[in-house]
Parts: sequence; C-alpha cells; structure tokens
Amino acid sequence: MSLKDRLNANHGGNKNQAANQTFMNYSALPLNDELRNLKDELHVLLIEKVNTTPNWSNLNDTEQKTFIRQFIDFQIANNFRQVPINKTEKERVIKEIIQDTKGFGPLDPLLDDPNISDILVNGAKNVYIEKNGKLYKTSVTFKDNEHLKNIIERIVSKVGRRIDEKSPMVDARLQDGSRVNAIIPPLALDGPSLSIRRFKKDAGTIEALLKWGSMSIEMAEVLQAAVKARCNIVISGGTGAGKTTLLNSLSAAIPSGERIITIEDSAELNLKQEHVVRLETRPKNIEGEGEISTRDLVANSLRMRPDRIVIGECRGAETLDMLQAMNTGHDGSLTTLHANSPRDAMARLETMVLYSGVELPSKNIKQQIASAINIIIQASRLQDGSRKVTRVSEITGMEENVIVMQDIFVWKQTGLSDDMVVGYHTSTGIRPEFLKRVERMGIEINGRFFDSAYKHNYVVKTGAMEGAMQNKRTPQIQIKHQNLEQSNNTRQALANRNDIDANILRRLQSNVRNDV
Ligand SMILES: Nc1ncnc2c1ncn2[C@@H]1O[C@H](COP(=O)(O)OP(=O)(O)O)[C@@H](O)[C@H]1O
Ligand SMILES: [Mg+2]
Repeated sequence: MSLKDRLNANHGGNKNQAANQTFMNYSALPLNDELRNLKDELHVLLIEKVNTTPNWSNLNDTEQKTFIRQFIDFQIANNFRQVPINKTEKERVIKEIIQDTKGFGPLDPLLDDPNISDILVNGAKNVYIEKNGKLYKTSVTFKDNEHLKNIIERIVSKVGRRIDEKSPMVDARLQDGSRVNAIIPPLALDGPSLSIRRFKKDAGTIEALLKWGSMSIEMAEVLQAAVKARCNIVISGGTGAGKTTLLNSLSAAIPSGERIITIEDSAELNLKQEHVVRLETRPKNIEGEGEISTRDLVANSLRMRPDRIVIGECRGAETLDMLQAMNTGHDGSLTTLHANSPRDAMARLETMVLYSGVELPSKNIKQQIASAINIIIQASRLQDGSRKVTRVSEITGMEENVIVMQDIFVWKQTGLSDDMVVGYHTSTGIRPEFLKRVERMGIEINGRFFDSAYKHNYVVKTGAMEGAMQNKRTPQIQIKHQNLEQSNNTRQALANRNDIDANILRRLQSNVRNDV
C-alpha cells in the first residue's frame, strides 16, 4: 500500500475517534523567557566545559549524557540559585540541552517513544510516524532543509557513513538495530528524505509474537519443531509484514550447538546462540567497485563448514546458490523473500534463479525448488496494522510441471471490531509430511493440532488491543532547536571538579576508548 493509501485507509469512514486520528502532536508549550535564557546560558557554559575537558571523546554516549546532566544540575544548584525553577522544569531544561547537543534535534521525542516503529521525513516540514501499525503525520518540523540535512549528517556519521552531493544516498543501521535510509537532493526532488525503520525492543522472540497474537501457541510449537528438525523454511511477505522479525524469532529455535552463518544486506538478525558467524554484504564504492554481494557471501559461507545458513533476504542471483546448498546437505536453512502468497513465492524463486544467468529449463528450476524447500510461512500486515502469520504451507513435490503445495495452517478473518481485525488461526486437516522429520528427531507433536476442528489457543486474546490503548495517549514533549545566539552571558565555566561523577572522571583520565 502506498503512503497515500495508508493515510486514506486511516480515515476509513469509521466513528472511532482514537483510531480515526491521523495527526499526532509532539510539541508542548515552549519554555518561558526566563527558563529559555537560563537554558541558553547553561548551554554556553556546557560547551566551554566540554571544550576544556581533555579526553571528552573517550566517553561513550551514556557517559557524556550523565556528564552533561550532572554539570547542569550542579550549575543550577550553585550558580543560578536566583532563578526559580522547579523539578519538572529543571528536567525539561536538562533534557532539551542533551537533545540539542547529543541528540537528533526535533527527532528526539519520536526516537524516545518506544511505540513508534517507523519515522518518515519528507523534507523539513513533513514528518510522519508509524505507531501501532498506523501512519500519522506529526507536529514535528525542522527549521529548514539545511537543518534537516545537518541532522541526517549527524545520524549517518554516527555509524561511520557520510552523505553529500557526491554520494546522496545512504542505507545504514544504527547502533540500536534500526535501519536508516537517507536520500538528499539532487536525487530527492523536494528536500532531504529520511526513513528510519526501528526494531521493536522485545521483538525477535517467539514469546513476543505470541504476545502480539501473530500466531497461535500450537503453530509456534509446530514451527519451532520444524526448525529443530532442519526443515528448509522460506518466510514470504510484503515490505514491513514482519518477515525479518519472524526469521529472527524462528532462528532462536536452532539448537545452540550448531554453527550458524547469517548473511544480510544490513545486519538485523540478532541470534542468541553462541556459535554464530555474521556476514554483511558491501555496497559498491563511489567508483562503482568493491561490491560483495549476497551471492558471493553464500558461496563463501559454504566453505565455512556451516550447520545452518540464514539468509536475511533472498532477492537475486543468490537464490540458485541457496537452493543448491539446501539440496546438497545444508538443510535447516532459513530465509525470507518478497511475495504475496506462498504460490507467488514459488514464482518469485523461479524468477530469481534466472537472475543468476544460468539457463535452466523451468521444470528443472521448479524441481530444485520443490526438493529444496519444505515450508513456506506467509507473513502479512493486516488492515489494522497488526502482523500475522496468515498461512503455513508445505511443499510436497512436483506433479507434471507444477510444484505441489498444501496449506497446514491458515488465518481466517471474520470481521472488524473497533477497527481491529477479528479472526482466528485454524488447521486445514492435513497432517504435514515434515512431521516425519520432526518425529525422527524425537520431538512429539500432538496430532490433534492438525485436525480441522481443533481450536487454536493464544497467549492473549488479540495483540492489537494493546495498540488500541496506546493510540489514546499522546505524549506532550517540548521540541526546541539549538539557539546559542540569544545568550548574552559568556560567564566562565567553573572548572569545579565536584560536579562530575567520580567514575566518569576516572574514565576521562584513562586513555581507553569505550565504544558503545
Ligand atoms: N508480529 C508482529 N506484531 C507487531 N509488530 C511487528 C510484528 N512483526 C514485526 N513487527 C514490526 O513491524 C515492522 C516491520 O517488521 P520487519 O520484520 O522488519 O518486516 P519485514 O522484514 O517484512 O520488512 C517492525 O517495526 C517490527 O517491529
Ligand atoms: Mg526485512
């Protein structure tokens, strides 16, 4: 769905106020004049203090923030006693100074809100967020495109990348695992554009998926058993359908003794096992050289004696290598791909094999696919923004020229209530063939799970309800840009050592870098 469609979908002709809202206010009343002056003065003092603090750059982010907090706290208590300020106001002043010096300016309140999953900036004046699965426009703006570009530079430089007219596109991963894409003029016509796709903090576990009602307890049990039994699994779905999250969660079921190699374009997987080798592709440099593709890494990984290969996303020529690996003893591999149904995923795989330039007859390719892949899991983003496993299908072989597939579990939507999708997961009545593999591993699965009359169980009634509750709360957070010019006070910073935490002082005196 396009951005416009999704915004329109939010209007959706319903009576529910909270769900109908498409705008979120992230601005509060500005600080009064006195506090603004205080903040400006403190800001100047802080910069002097930082400039005269040797080894400041040795401190990691948290330490620098603590340093700033303690410095300001001390200054307010000792040198600005005459300014009336209560605890809440002081907190706000400190927070704003930290935002201006250490943070990402107007984006900070959005980054601080854990319920926001995506932040989309289209030029200085249009900032959208996705929250609990829905898209909202926010009150957040930048002063101008230059200001936005500075913030983008600050974001990408933190992860060692740069953006300028010569390389006006950056795709990077932040330290917290969020993915960032920035593209600036001349490629972006209406000003710099920034997309931040964040990872839910507790994502990446089956428990989280169960809590969100993305699948039933029985499905989780069966899929985990299939992973343990080394079935080759493809997760299919659209952009943002939750494929990577599902891949991460299922990978957790790989027994910890196995050697796992992960291959990704931008490392998002977060496997907890001990024996993991993480590989990341490398884009071309400015001269168009030096690219290391997923295909190169798949080929290399086969020489690394892997027990399992986990490919973040299959989107090209690597598909053939992956299928061959799966067919030559590297079973138990997992990957994702972009498709709208399991059947569509088969067609995608076939097309992608052709990208490798090897001319194989269609029937051969299908045979490779059919013998390599055991299970296809379809992930979908439903109309209320929730993500669910909507289909678990098994590939059983070939008949004539067609890959034979059978659905094992499907999601049945029965309606909508208060804009929330209502439905249930159900079994089709087919006992999957991969159960034999599972049983050979000594894992027992209750055969009744596959009866069409069997009623699936959930950890919660519906995960989306939590989201509905959260939609009703709108945080009020002040946003303020750096405004140094206004300060007319250039009083010397008191180089009073008592204002800073002893631990941080020790770190400053040592010469060891403590990277975050
Ligand atoms: N089952 C789920 N329930 C709710 N949110 C989810 C679920 N799975 C993923 N998400 C969120 O949806 C967004 C997209 O997920 P991701 O796994 O990156 O999708 P994809 O890989 O299909 O593009 C992320 O913000 C993620 O935290
Ligand atoms: Mg993904």
